[in-house]
Formats: sequence, structure tokens, C-alpha cells
Amino acid sequence: MNHDLGSIAAALVAKGKGILAADETVPTLTKRFDALKIQSTEESRRTYREMLFASVGAAEFISGVIMHDETIRQKSSSGVSFAQLLSDQGILPGIKVDTGAKPLAGSFDEKITEGLDGLRDRLSEYRSMGARFAKWRAVIRIADNLPSAACVSANAHALGRYAALCQEQHLVPIVEPEVLMDGSHTIARCEEVTGVVLHAVFRALFEQRVVLECMLLKPNMVIAGEECSPPDKVKEVAVATLRCLRQHVPAAVPGIVFLSGGQDDLVATAHLNAINRLPGPNPWKISFSYGRALQDPALKAWHGRDENLQLGQQALYHRARCNGAASLGAYTD
Ligand code: 13P
Repeated sequence: MNHDLGSIAAALVAKGKGILAADETVPTLTKRFDALKIQSTEESRRTYREMLFASVGAAEFISGVIMHDETIRQKSSSGVSFAQLLSDQGILPGIKVDTGAKPLAGSFDEKITEGLDGLRDRLSEYRSMGARFAKWRAVIRIADNLPSAACVSANAHALGRYAALCQEQHLVPIVEPEVLMDGSHTIARCEEVTGVVLHAVFRALFEQRVVLECMLLKPNMVIAGEECSPPDKVKEVAVATLRCLRQHVPAAVPGIVFLSGGQDDLVATAHLNAINRLPGPNPWKISFSYGRALQDPALKAWHGRDENLQLGQQALYHRARCNGAASLGAYTD
């Protein structure tokens, strides 16, 4: 079993490839559609996802796609399940399995990600539908007295429990502890908090006996809050991010795939590229698992119109290709 999961984890970070996160919940995708005045219906969301998943050539740079529950149950216009449509192109189907970040009792404005109840059965069903890996996102907010120790440990514990269940059910867990960019904190504060969070997460993974060789980490980059000015320099983000990861991510983990977290798409590519250009060697592959930074240009190009489907696909292909190059430190703008 472990050998199988190890090969899937390795395939997700194969040379020059990364992951497309297309697992927005219905309310989140509706918000993105609303901003462009695109009507959000089950069918318009299906059409959008089909556009992304059927982008010709993108499989050269995309190893896996993370879907949402609604999407993994949908089919392409020719009647093939989305999991099959992806597998047919050599792309691994993945699934978001947490049920969202809810207010953490006893804390001020912090969240705990839920979804452990009944998770074993849901994982088993998703695997039978073709999923080969899963994702669970925890969110940590930085403010004057935050994050609290309670928020960090509760979220780390849940990530450990989730990852252990995934491996039991033959799915590779992507462990995503996201330190948010919201706020005016400095890059140094982000580095400090990211370090504390990663330390807690790997302790919880160890306690829950998660096999590190058979998982991927999906962290934030170390970056100042979006209200902090002036913005960080690309090199500064790369150096702080790699330093923090080297201090806290065990060498047994095969890959680190960043979330984009609200970074502009070009900036997210430049950061990934700069990290991969720093002197190595690194024990893990470093690539992307971007949502907005891969999808935004495609969503804008499509704009909800059938006649723009090809433009949307070209936009996704282009960003996937740029990020594939950045995963090798070979991106030139
Ligand atoms: P973003 O890259 O838009 O942050 O999304 C990644 C993701 O999967 C969030 O859970």
C-alpha cells in the first residue's frame, strides 16, 4: 500500500508539473462568478470545470486536479465522469474532503476546520469514484495576539487525524496549513508564525503515525500581510520561505506544493521560480497547487460565454506552462 501511495505522491510532483486546485465550494465559486457577473448554476459550474479539465496540452504541466464534492459527481458534456476525463489524460483526480473552517469556540475570530466525523466512509467512496489523493485546508490568521496556541494545536491535530485516515483508505493526503495573507503583519512575523504552525503540524502527523513519504505539504509562502507596505521583494520572499521550510519540513516528505493565497498570478509564478533558483539541493520537490493563480486568467477569458471556451483553455494552458517552468526555476517573463 505504501509503495503505491509513494508513487502517487511522486507523480504529483513529477518534474515540471504541479497541481490545479479547482475545489472551490459552491459559495466560493459563486462569489468568483458574481464578481464577473457570471450566473452560478450547477450547469455553469460544470461547464467551467469542463473547460479547465479539458484544456488541450495542460496535462504536460498539471499532474493532478483537486475537485469539490459537486464536481467529482459531475460528467463532461460527452457523458464521462470528470475523474475519468482527467485520468484519461494522465492527470490524477483529487478531492477536497474537509467540510470547511468554522468559528473556533472560545477564541476571537479564529477558525477550526471540520469534517472528521464520517470521514473514513467518505474517503472510501471518493476512492471508488477514482480519487487518488485528498486535501484538507486549515486556516491560521495572524493578528496582534493571534494565532492562539489553541487554534494552532486544534487545527494541527485535525490535519494529523485526516492524513492518517487518508493513508488507511489508500489516498495520498495533501496537508494544507494556510497562514493567511490578511492583515498588515511583516514578513518576519509570517515566518515566525509559519514556523510555529509547521512544527505543530509535523508533531501531530508523527503522533498520528502518518507516513511522511506518502503525503505532500501544501503551505503558504512566507510573505508580508497584504496591507503591509511596501510589498516584499521577490528574492526576500524566496529566501524567507525556503529558510522556514528547511527548518520545519522533514526530508522524508517528497514534495511541497504551494497555495497561492490571493497573490497575483504573475507574482505567484515569480515567487515559485525564485524559490527554485536558490542554491540547493533541497530534500523535497517544490512546486505549485494553485487555485486562483492558475484559474483567474482563464475565468476572466471565459466570462461565462460559450464562444470564449477556447480562450479560457488557452489562458489556463499558458499559466500552467509558466508555473511548470517555475517549478524548475526555468521561468523567464
Ligand atoms: P489558492 O491558490 O487560490 O490560495 O487556492 C489554493 C487552495 O487550494 C486553497 O485551499
